[in-house]
Amino acid sequence: MANKLLEVKDLKQYFGAAGNPIKAVDGISFDIYEGETLGLVGESGCGKSTTGRSIIRLYDITDGEVLFKGRNIHASKSRKELKEFNREMQMIFQDPYASLNPRMTAGEIISEGFDIHGLYKDKKERKERIAELLEAVGLNREHANRYAHEFSGGQRQRIGIARALSLSPSFIIADEPISALDVSIQAQVVNLLKKLQREHKLTYLFIAHDLSMVKYISDRIAVMYRGKIVELGKADEIYENPIHPYTKSLLSAVPLPDPLTERIRKRIPYSHEETDEAGKLHEVLPTHFVYGTESQIKKWL
Ligand SMILES: Nc1ncnc2c1ncn2[C@@H]1O[C@H](COP(=O)(O)OP(=O)(O)OP(=O)(O)O)[C@@H](O)[C@H]1O
Ligand SMILES: [Mg+2]
Repeated sequence: MANKLLEVKDLKQYFGAAGNPIKAVDGISFDIYEGETLGLVGESGCGKSTTGRSIIRLYDITDGEVLFKGRNIHASKSRKELKEFNREMQMIFQDPYASLNPRMTAGEIISEGFDIHGLYKDKKERKERIAELLEAVGLNREHANRYAHEFSGGQRQRIGIARALSLSPSFIIADEPISALDVSIQAQVVNLLKKLQREHKLTYLFIAHDLSMVKYISDRIAVMYRGKIVELGKADEIYENPIHPYTKSLLSAVPLPDPLTERIRKRIPYSHEETDEAGKLHEVLPTHFVYGTESQIKKWL
């Protein structure tokens, strides 16, 4: 069994007034093992991005704990340790237009982190590292002097990936990294992420709407619904044996034509009452977890 790189324990992230908060993330727990990809899926507004942003300390979390290599990242006060967390955990964003400054060159974007962390003193070494990163993501060294606005969406996302790699992180949160791209480009970027994972022993939290792509990249999948994780398990298991009604509904919405009837499957409706506040995650099969009350779980199995 691989080591746990990240442990999320009863994480809560609320926004707004204390009396009537928006419970964007409402008590979720999961682990991510070294070298794996955990897919996080669910409809718009269910709390996926907030989960990612809370993990990398963009917020002061409301409650819970996040351990990275066994260390509590929100409790740390040591500057040295915080700097190390910042280096080790990186994020790739959904919109490669909004997330890259169009007036900066690719080289400047990629090397920003070097300077903050004082990695390369010498100009030549720095230039070489930029070239190496551009090549690692399928661009070439001549691209270093071009401005972000001169690149296509797919190329921009490659620059975003190079930026994320620049400090040699071990953990990357990819927040819908392909949803803004043309379908023809999506698979290329996913394949690039897979290749980089192998080469650099990266661990991913891969956030997405698109269930077909998530299945392809993820070892395990967590399904999120209104701030809670309702199902978690190995990717194949989630697809072949979904148990929570919300997961079934989500899967039924994937427009895969049924080869026997040649009809598009109809979406199974889901009613909110099926997520009971009194529920918890139950391990229904080894490594397969489902959220619910005891009686719900009995009914669904
Ligand atoms: N900074 C914030 N302040 C207040 N509310 C917020 C903030 N960020 C997110 N929310 C709310 O928290 C909930 C979860 O948002 P989040 O962006 O995490 O969802 P998501 O699953 O990433 O959605 P999408 O698939 O559309 O990206 C939403 O109701 C959102 O409006
Ligand atoms: Mg989001």
